[in-house]
Amino acid sequence: MKVGISNDHAAVELKYALIRHLEAKGYEVVNYGTNTSESYDYPIAGKMLGEAVRDKEVDCGIAICGTGVGISLAANKVKGIRAACVSEPVSAMLTKSHNNANIICFGARIVGEETAKAIVDAWLETPFDGGERHLRRIKMIMDIEK
Ligand code: RB5
Repeated sequence: MKVGISNDHAAVELKYALIRHLEAKGYEVVNYGTNTSESYDYPIAGKMLGEAVRDKEVDCGIAICGTGVGISLAANKVKGIRAACVSEPVSAMLTKSHNNANIICFGARIVGEETAKAIVDAWLETPFDGGERHLRRIKMIMDIEK
């Protein structure tokens, strides 16, 4: 599976920790974010990853900024993106199972490295439930985009 990862300046170290973690598990990781601590606007990072997921350059994405909120707001502006901002693994698991979130977001200033790893593991390893009610609700979200 090909996983995109994008970030602003607040999340460079955490991004590299996650790339190492995911590559060790056999995922192919594509790096879209900034790689320096110089100030980098999170809307650029969120849009870039959203477009990469929309265009199927990658299967899904991980977006990290200071809080996870700004980058999720930006990614969610891209049509077809369901970017979920979470801070623990149970929400990560449920947002794949129920919402089929195609981007997971969290804050490098909010969660520590081990929690971040647990979040991405829960999200990547959980399948979409596929139930009728979940499909119907996701379609309702997509209808808002029209
Ligand atoms: C950058 O200082 C910070 O605003 C950003 O990383 C993020 O937290 C925005 O939501």
